[in-house]
Amino acid sequence: MKGQEFAPIKFENGKLLILDQTKLPTTTEYLEMHTKEDVWDAIHKLRVRGAPAIGIAAAYGIYISIKDCAEMDYEGFYTEFCLVKDYLDSARPTAVNLSWALSRMEKCVIKNKKASVKEIKDAMLKEAVQIRTEEEAACRAMGEHGLSLLKSGMGILTHCNAGFLATSQYGTALAPLYVGQEKGYEFNVFADETRPLLQGARLTTWELHQAGIPVTLICDNMASMVMKNGWIDAILVGCDRMAANGDGANKIGTSGVAILAKEYGIPFYMCVPTSTIDLDTATGEEINIELRSGEEIYQMWYEKEMAPAGIKTYNPAFDVTDAKYITAVITEKGIAYPPYEESLKSLFDKKD
Ligand code: MRU
Repeated sequence: MKGQEFAPIKFENGKLLILDQTKLPTTTEYLEMHTKEDVWDAIHKLRVRGAPAIGIAAAYGIYISIKDCAEMDYEGFYTEFCLVKDYLDSARPTAVNLSWALSRMEKCVIKNKKASVKEIKDAMLKEAVQIRTEEEAACRAMGEHGLSLLKSGMGILTHCNAGFLATSQYGTALAPLYVGQEKGYEFNVFADETRPLLQGARLTTWELHQAGIPVTLICDNMASMVMKNGWIDAILVGCDRMAANGDGANKIGTSGVAILAKEYGIPFYMCVPTSTIDLDTATGEEINIELRSGEEIYQMWYEKEMAPAGIKTYNPAFDVTDAKYITAVITEKGIAYPPYEESLKSLFDKKD
């Protein structure tokens, strides 16, 4: 895959490095994570973002946060582990990959309870590497499955950033495009800018451009126009948490794109690794939607404030796309179609 030198998370010589995505596209700077506060801050401030990447960062992050703790017995170590786990888990609420990855790390600690603390730490690092390896394989597999729904020459609309910056290689929603590129397919991609944090403008156009995939940037409110113009043949988006009934929380604005797609008869695909499917959440109504500061709307990208001082704001970071608007869910285990209560569950029953 072209343009991959800037992985969002690097683990080199025992050091955890995070690409500071708040500085893209102008600056590519890696920050070294030393403490649990560094990791929490990097996730909370979206220096590392995108559901699978948050999970991977948390897995390495909990190892980094605890690896130099004082000598102690298993009970003491487990208590310390749980404190760090709960702390990191509080960094962002919506992407289930955060708690999913931390729970996996906890299972690893418990499984090794008879080992020495040094051996438990080694096992934690191996588990973090394994989580990353599995996510990489899942992205590649989603790319293959997703590509089976596309044809060369298609116009594709995407929202937010669900590419390699949000995962580990290939991405989720952009994986079919990267796999297609390897096989000689050509696509015309339209990227929504994705207000208010501009993940589409700053990140998706940057990574597609680097990879040599043609991309056109549009403002969010132009999505309807490009659909009506007949320029869009399929929509590919990622997901932060999918409930058991197929309702999917993704970056704010996604549900509007899905509703427009239905009106224009355009297939709307959500690319969702099974690490992002939360069968314990029955419907989208139960998903905790992160609310962020209003400054992101009226100040962050402007030289001066773009609204009267003290103005009331509402800044939900995600919305839920109802399952009825999702044509298919592309996972690493195959493509799920409605009714999702059955098809998603049967994916989990499938052997790898
Ligand atoms: O707030 P962000 O940038 O973490 O939101 C990311 C998204 O909404 C992505 O679309 C989602 O995580 C899918 S990632 C492959």
